[in-house]
Amino acid sequence: MRITFSVIKADIGGYAGHSDSHPEVMAKADECLAKAKQDGLLIDYHVTKCGDDVQLIMTHEQGEDNEKIHQLAWDTFIEGTEVAKKLGLHGAGQDLLADAFSGNVRGMGPGCAEMEFEERGSEPVIVFMADKTSSGAWNLPLYRMFADPFNTIGLVIAPNMHDGFYFEVHDIKEGKKITFNTPEEIYDLLIFIGAPSRFMIRTVRHRKTNDIAAVSSTQRLALIAGRYVGKDDPVCIVRAQGNFPAVGEVLEPFAVPILVEGWMRGSHHGPLMPVSIPDSTPTRFDGPPRVTAAGFQIQDGKLVGPRDMFADKSYDNARQKAIDIADFMRQHGPFEPHRLPLEEMEYTTMPEVMKKLEGRFTDIEPGRG
Ligand code: F6R
Ligand code: MG
Ligand code: MG
Repeated sequence: MRITFSVIKADIGGYAGHSDSHPEVMAKADECLAKAKQDGLLIDYHVTKCGDDVQLIMTHEQGEDNEKIHQLAWDTFIEGTEVAKKLGLHGAGQDLLADAFSGNVRGMGPGCAEMEFEERGSEPVIVFMADKTSSGAWNLPLYRMFADPFNTIGLVIAPNMHDGFYFEVHDIKEGKKITFNTPEEIYDLLIFIGAPSRFMIRTVRHRKTNDIAAVSSTQRLALIAGRYVGKDDPVCIVRAQGNFPAVGEVLEPFAVPILVEGWMRGSHHGPLMPVSIPDSTPTRFDGPPRVTAAGFQIQDGKLVGPRDMFADKSYDNARQKAIDIADFMRQHGPFEPHRLPLEEMEYTTMPEVMKKLEGRFTDIEPGRG
């Protein structure tokens, strides 16, 4: 059976501040998707959250970028926003940047990752969701899962993965894309994906079968809006087992917290802490950034699950390390590298401060600098 797995998410209001999603907003989203399932548009769905982001996880047979599915997600967020407004939630409707829906949620604010595939006999899928970080945060974990034998031993000893994977990388500033073949092009690949604020892994495919293995949301809110309106808080869908890394290999990159951008006012680097879904409540300095993982088995398009994958005790050390890194990074206060470099601050207060002080900058006399 050929199915489409869609994850569409948005921050439509938080409480208190940007730290969590309200149960009534999620209940409204559940109600909207239940109706769509009843009407036959969806095969199945699951509504969850990561911090202040509401996540719509949906299976259907409409294909990727389908107008009806995107309209459903948009309308669900609009209805959720009404509840958020009624409750006086913070930033109600903040990610809905367009006035009205026009065919596809891409470019309208919500984040979106979708993949269409022929369901296998056993189809394990992991949905990663992050809060307080930007699209591009999946570059390092996806590289580890699909190209690093120190993470994924299957690349070395499983014959069905030994040929490697294709990585499609998007340059979101220039609007261009390129595909790299791994393992032979990993050095070229790393030059680009090591700069995740501009170059993002959009998809990973199996080299022999060309089957889709992973897809991430690459929308950047700041580029869509031209100013800072909240962080992207991206999602990523990964298929596991068989021709793909085992579930444990897919989760392994998160055993060591990496530094990502997006903490406090979207303007700071901080550790990406793997947490259970109930623990995705960024509070300290509005963070530190979180990642959750919902695991499903798919059967005839039905979602069996989720299992809350990072609730596992084996991630306790990663959490402790993340907290220690958070302490260390916070000591830098308003200084880089805790604060983002200037190019990234371009979407925050920097242009306004520059404008205000324009007249007070004078030339440095030659030889006096
Ligand atoms: C970071 C984030 C928060 C807000 C901060 C200010 O991604 O969401 O750190 O940027 O709390 O929020 P506002 O501008 O809504 O008062
Ligand atoms: Mg928010
Ligand atoms: Mg968020």
